[in-house]
Amino acid sequence: MYIKEIPQFEGKEVVLKGWVANRRDSKGLVFINLRDGSGLCQCIADANKISAEEFENAGKLSLESAAEIHGTVVKDERQIGGFEIQVTKLIVIQIAEEYPIAKKEHGIEFLMDKRHLWLRSQRQWAILRIRNTIIYSIHQFFQKEGFVQMDAPIFTGNACEGTTNLFETDFYGDPAYLSQSGQLYGEAMAMAFGKIYTFGPTFRAEKSKTRRHLSEFWMIEPEVAFMDIHENMDLIENFLQFVIRAVLDNCQNELKLIDRDTSILESSLKKFPRLSYDEAVAIIKGEKDVNGQNSIKSLEDELAKVELAIAAANAEIADREAKLAVPGMKKGEINFNQNKIATLKNDLKDLEEQQRNIPQWIQSAKNFEYGNDLGGSDETVITRLFDVPVMVYDWPHEVKAFYLKRNPNDQRFARGVDVLAPEGYGEIVGGGERETDEQKLRDKIIEHDLPMAEFEWYLDLRKYGSVPHAGFGLGLERLVTWLCKLKHVRESIPFPRMYGRLLP
Ligand code: 4AD
Ligand code: MG
Repeated sequence: MYIKEIPQFEGKEVVLKGWVANRRDSKGLVFINLRDGSGLCQCIADANKISAEEFENAGKLSLESAAEIHGTVVKDERQIGGFEIQVTKLIVIQIAEEYPIAKKEHGIEFLMDKRHLWLRSQRQWAILRIRNTIIYSIHQFFQKEGFVQMDAPIFTGNACEGTTNLFETDFYGDPAYLSQSGQLYGEAMAMAFGKIYTFGPTFRAEKSKTRRHLSEFWMIEPEVAFMDIHENMDLIENFLQFVIRAVLDNCQNELKLIDRDTSILESSLKKFPRLSYDEAVAIIKGEKDVNGQNSIKSLEDELAKVELAIAAANAEIADREAKLAVPGMKKGEINFNQNKIATLKNDLKDLEEQQRNIPQWIQSAKNFEYGNDLGGSDETVITRLFDVPVMVYDWPHEVKAFYLKRNPNDQRFARGVDVLAPEGYGEIVGGGERETDEQKLRDKIIEHDLPMAEFEWYLDLRKYGSVPHAGFGLGLERLVTWLCKLKHVRESIPFPRMYGRLLP
């Protein structure tokens, strides 16, 4: 049985198999925190209740040793999960060598090098369980809506999202590229099945070291025949809210473990504002307010607040350090002060980062040139004014992909839509309505300097029953990163692949 099922076994004898997450010894007792992948449970080995040999073995269980534990389930409100096990029998499976990941703070590069072990720690475990719930709910949503799951190829002969970030590989002597997006194949499959979604690995070779780029990530790409840009935005909103609700309904424990304040997730269940590119630019430049808030003014206010908070934190650190310097402080008080100082120093790092960033955001917002794509900082400037994801649609056609349809009422704009997540996370979804006219697509393919021959099959879709259609791509890791409020996308996937990281 698994630890997760323990509440059903109160008063009964159970057998658990797992790893030692922590051990504490006191007189005649050994407290073992056992984890088995499904959860964590305290097991108490009492010298009076098991054999001398078993008790001695319990005391030898080092961190991450594996054991089989038999015992009785006893209710104890103070325990995580509300139960503990009184050990009746203990079998050692393996005694672990000294475990490299200790309780003390490790640097991120060290933890990434040890990713194969780091996955066992509680926070990583919780994040990846939330990822699992997200994946499951994505399938649930599309399946209940009658979408057919279809797989696009990974080896491709052509570029979908521009040629600058392709991973080239050798396909029996010819160049092939790892898929940047399954969309073009998704369009073909939508013409065969009506509504489809792909869910597959996706590759982008930009040598980017930002907190939101992976070289390999998972993308969900629905594509729907007879759907326009507005219905596409309805679909995106319904879909994301279904997933957010699933996480709120099923992951309360995990969200607590990672200290996620869920208020913004709950507020994201209301309507997502839809801004045209023109409106978005006006907001960025401070020419249009959102609910009485001006982007530039609110950034300046924020900067002033951050500077006050930095001064306050520095003063408190100095004060506590001065107290510590005076001899005679009690041990408990020393510890308390030292912990406080460590926390304050951590807060300071975040505050100082904001102190560096905000002036840059203000600058780039003021200097934003109409017609440009939105950069990460522009996205932040907009999204911090909202407590819900926002959709930006109708982009200058020059900055978007070749396959997007133009707004029939205003040819300057392409019918793309990006979803920007709140709390500074920025783009999580990109999509739009597709061009249906063969000649217009040919012109765009030439304009983007793409090899026409590789696109002939795609152009066939416009020769035989070409119909309005639309779709979008959600970056799974970007969504996990936002829902879990992670600092970096690398913790949202079991084994991240990014510029400078191929191992483990
Ligand atoms: O905006 P993108 O490039 O759009 C497409 O690929 C379209 N063909 C999708 C479609 O309409 N079917 O990528 C879609 C999403 C982004 O919004 C982002 O969430 C994610 O994929 N993404 C990345 N995630 C992690 N690392 C990267 N390097 C990413 N590049 C894109
Ligand atoms: Mg995009």
